Amino acid sequence: MERAIEVYVKPMEQGHLDDIVKIYLSSFKGMRSEDVVKRWFECNMRAYPRMQYFVALSEGRVVGYILWIEKGGFREESVWELEQIAVDPGFRGLGVGRRLIEDSISYLRIYLERRQPRSKLKLILVSSGSSNEIARRLYEKVLGAREEAVLRDFYRGDEVIYIARYHTDRSTSDA
Ligand SMILES: CC(C)(COP(=O)(O)OP(=O)(O)OC[C@H]1O[C@@H](n2cnc3c(N)ncnc32)[C@H](O)[C@@H]1OP(=O)(O)O)[C@@H](O)C(=O)NCCC(=O)NCCS
Repeated sequence: MERAIEVYVKPMEQGHLDDIVKIYLSSFKGMRSEDVVKRWFECNMRAYPRMQYFVALSEGRVVGYILWIEKGGFREESVWELEQIAVDPGFRGLGVGRRLIEDSISYLRIYLERRQPRSKLKLILVSSGSSNEIARRLYEKVLGAREEAVLRDFYRGDEVIYIARYHTDRSTSDA
């Protein structure tokens, strides 16, 4: 039987930093040093609201995070890149990644409405390594994103660009 867990997604706070650094180190190989990872996260946190982190909590414990970046200015037709998402290896396959994406998009939509009354989410761009089939399925299934380009020999091999295009009804699956 599949393990069911309660998950709550909320904007990241300073106190979550050490936990998300650990999740990064157990999920990615781009940066190996804890200090370097921490500096990168802190730098991104200072770029709020252009960069926005959200965390997933389960029983008070941080089990995943997501980082969004707004592209091309504070536009009414807003374009965001899903820069990074990671779930604690012990909590994968339980729907945490899906909840991180769906719930953080709801937060972004509220933020956009408060910022500019007519603003809406136009497009989401996301990329991942060409061999990352799990990420591909996540982006296709949860965002309705489609492959639009391949960047050759990018980080650690080819990087696939996926794009989800939204219409004005603001649903997350109408790409
Ligand atoms: C990618 C990642 C964030 C997914 O998080 P997760 O919590 O395990 O994902 P979910 O349980 O919400 O699954 C959502 C969808 O992703 C896909 N998926 C998740 N795990 C999968 C697996 N082991 N095999 C195939 N597809 C999988 C499925 O489409 C799934 O939907 P479904 O369960 O309805 O079939 C997680 O695997 C991770 O942290 N990976 C390492 C970091 C990474 O590669 N990040 C992406 C690039 S930035």
